[in-house]
Amino acid sequence: MAVRHFLTLLDLSRDELRAVIERAIELKALRNQGVSSEPFRNKVLGMIFEKSSTRTRVSFEAGMAQLGGSALFLSPRDTQLGRGEPIEDSARVISRMVDMVMIRTFGHNVLERFAEYSKVPVINALSDSYHPCQLLADLQTYVEHRGSPEGKVVAWVGDGNNMCHSYINAARQYDFELRIACPEGYDPDESIVAGDRVSIVRKPVDAVRGADWVATDVWASMGQETEQQIRIKAFDGFLVDHELMSHANSDAIFMHCLPAHRGEEVSGELLEDDAISVVWDEAENRLHAQKALMEFLLDNSN
Ligand code: CP
Ligand code: NVA
Repeated sequence: MAVRHFLTLLDLSRDELRAVIERAIELKALRNQGVSSEPFRNKVLGMIFEKSSTRTRVSFEAGMAQLGGSALFLSPRDTQLGRGEPIEDSARVISRMVDMVMIRTFGHNVLERFAEYSKVPVINALSDSYHPCQLLADLQTYVEHRGSPEGKVVAWVGDGNNMCHSYINAARQYDFELRIACPEGYDPDESIVAGDRVSIVRKPVDAVRGADWVATDVWASMGQETEQQIRIKAFDGFLVDHELMSHANSDAIFMHCLPAHRGEEVSGELLEDDAISVVWDEAENRLHAQKALMEFLLDNSN
């Protein structure tokens, strides 16, 4: 057995991905029943954060504690990473001391370089290119609320960003149709948009018409703060609200990875409408999905 990493959703086979989602649902039920077990006793997760986080940090740290292990928060400000120690050196040192590493960073190549030199599984906790852990939670949430997403129509409304790229990978893994509505100039990376399951349109209503699942995200991601005002203009007309959702199927659900900017990409009324918006379940599922992922990676690496 080699070491398994999770840098994108495509690092799991289709069967493995389904098994992780099923296990996440099972772990959630066990937690709700008050059943606990500690398979991660003495296991340590290193958590490298080069960007801010609420959900990712809390879910990984709580998840490790609940499974009997522990987590180390490592910020570049307090480690030698921030003073220029090469990624390759940091990977060799850190991975000799911990059992898994989770990294939130800018360039996706940082994750790839770290993984190449790591003796232990590396998890992408968000890069500029992908956010696969969020998609584990989103897939779990759809399965729990509506069953399998296979054959469904999913609308992505907004920026062709890291979340959008991970939705594209999810469409490949789960055989759903993905319609992306984004303004010109904000398309997802051409090399990631492959296959006939993904289409790009310019009007949100063209993506949402007849959709079963509608998702969006902030217009300016972390690292793009200086573009905020330009992006607010460029994304005019891309607000997801009840009016836009009225074009979707009657049982369509709405997701947002959070944090949300109410009144920009999503209306406050829609976000708070529990009949359509499943964002709180989606956020909670980060915990369960990542516990299932970490179990999988440790069980399948040597
Ligand atoms: N959705 C998400 O990854 O949230 P955080 O940035 O709070 O971790
Ligand atoms: N696209 C957003 C997601 C945050 C969870 C960002 O990268 O900032």
